[in-house]
Parts: sequence; structure tokens; C-alpha cells
Amino acid sequence: MWDLFLFDMKIKDLKNQFETELENSFSKNELQFLFPIFMEEILLISQDDLRFKDFEWVAGSKEKWESSISELKKGIPYQYVLGSTVFYGMKIKVNENTLIPRPETEELLDFISKDGMGIPGSIADFGCGSGCISLALKKIFPPSIVHAYDISSAALEIANQNSTDANLPVEFAILDLLNHENLNKTFDLIVSNPPYVRELEKKEMSNGVLDFEPHLALFVKDTDALIFYAALERIGQQCLNENGTMYFEINQYLAMETKSLFGNKGWETELIRDMSGNWRFLKVWK
Ligand SMILES: C[S@@+](CC[C@H](N)C(=O)[O-])C[C@H]1O[C@@H](n2cnc3c(N)ncnc32)[C@H](O)[C@@H]1O
Repeated sequence: MWDLFLFDMKIKDLKNQFETELENSFSKNELQFLFPIFMEEILLISQDDLRFKDFEWVAGSKEKWESSISELKKGIPYQYVLGSTVFYGMKIKVNENTLIPRPETEELLDFISKDGMGIPGSIADFGCGSGCISLALKKIFPPSIVHAYDISSAALEIANQNSTDANLPVEFAILDLLNHENLNKTFDLIVSNPPYVRELEKKEMSNGVLDFEPHLALFVKDTDALIFYAALERIGQQCLNENGTMYFEINQYLAMETKSLFGNKGWETELIRDMSGNWRFLKVWK
């Protein structure tokens, strides 16, 4: 339990202190974005209330507030500091064992929801991490049975908690995509955002990602960068029902190669751009 007592400060002063303490770590815009989120999550002052209460005294856990600021100073991503993020309108728990869900992945779900398919009977999400994709799919297609798989039992534990919290039932199971028996299941829709960042791309990444996010979720060998898509192609051959579709998040620099990997095995393919104009998603069907 956190201590609960009045700060000897008003909201306005707390904001000044937050900005001063973190001015070397964040831009002004980032601080403007973070302050209301931390006020809401830690001190339970809603973003609406915040606008009108500059001169109110603050009540709440000073200890939690201060420890959060010191974690932000160390460069820990704010979602890990808070222990949660918002994805597809849902509050999703995250920790050091789960990737922080990205806005591009929300775009993929938007695309799937508008792609005009009927309601799939059964769905699979491979490499589910926090469960963000599988929970969003259950939200989009409530009658569908959603299965979600990951190699990490620690990630599956968080995914399970997220499923319970959101009241969106998903069947979670541990599975190594690169080494598994026949699944003995079939699906109408398969979705995956597997690890796809090459080691050589590390230099483009921020320290927040490199130092704190799970490398298991991110990286593949430079020499075998499409290993997970090859595994997903085999799963598609075994487990995708007739008229089924697969959607993948992909590495923008390897879009053509990823498309060919499926095209060469007889699949129909469509590359889709993300909001930044990069080839970020691949739709695959027979
Ligand atoms: C890019 S993350 C995606 C997480 C989540 N689906 C999302 O979109 O935020 C890739 C996920 O694949 C999992 N993973 C890595 N290697 C795996 C393997 N061999 N078999 C199954 N899952 C694996 C990681 O644990 C991680 O959760």
C-alpha cells in the first residue's frame, strides 16, 4: 500500500516541480503530455479536473509520485513506470517481460476491423506479449474464439491478467513458434506481430527501447531476419481454414522479401502502409 497524505503543494506548483525535475530528460511537449497522465494514474486527478484545479491542494501518494519521477529520470519508459498503457481503448498492463504495444499495431487492428471480413469462428494471435492484439480482436469480434500464444510464460501471465481485467476471454497457451508440434487447431483469422528488428537496426533505436524492453520480443538475427514469417507461413499451411486470412506486422525494410516469402509458396499477398507511409503490414490469403 502506498502512503496517502496531502502534498504541501498545489497542483500548479507540482506541475512546475515535475517540469523542472525532468527538463533534462524530456522535451517541453513530452512533459505537457506526461504530466496529466501521471496526475490521473498516480494522484487520481482526471485530465478534465486538472484544467480547473490549478490552485487546489494535492492529495495522494507522495512516495509513489517521487519514485515515478526518479524512474522517469533513469529513462524507464513511462508505460513501465505506470505499469500500464492504453491500447485500442483498453487499459493494458505491461512490465519488463512485455513489449509496450505500439500505435502501428493499433493501425493494423483498425485495418482488420474495416477489411470487410465476416465474423471469424476462430482466431489466433502468435507472439501475443501483453495480449493487446488478441484482446482487441476479441473486442472487434465478440463471438469469435480467440487463441493467443507466446514463448514467454511471464508475458502470458500479464496477458491473462489483461484478459480478466478487460473481461475479454482469450485462450492463452505457451508455444515456441520456431519449434512446435502440429497445433491440431484451425483458424479463420491469424494475426501476428512477431520479432522482426535486425541486430543491425539497433543503432536506430532509443535507449528506452534497448535498455528496458525485452529483446526476446524485438530482435532477430541479421542473417535470418524472416525466421518468424517462415514459421508463420508453415502454420498458415497447416492451420488456416479455407477462405481464411492472415495479417502480419512486418519490418518496413524487408517488406518485399516478406511478401515474396509468402508469394513464392502460392499465397496471395497485399502490402499495406502505416500512417507514416512505411510498408508495415502484410495481408496473406489463398
Ligand atoms: C513484437 S512482440 C509482440 C507483442 C504483442 N503482440 C504486441 O503486438 O505488442 C513479439 C512477441 O513474440 C514473442 N516471441 C519471441 N520469440 C517467440 C517464439 N519463438 N515463439 C513464440 N513467441 C515468441 C515475444 O515473447 C513477444 O511477446
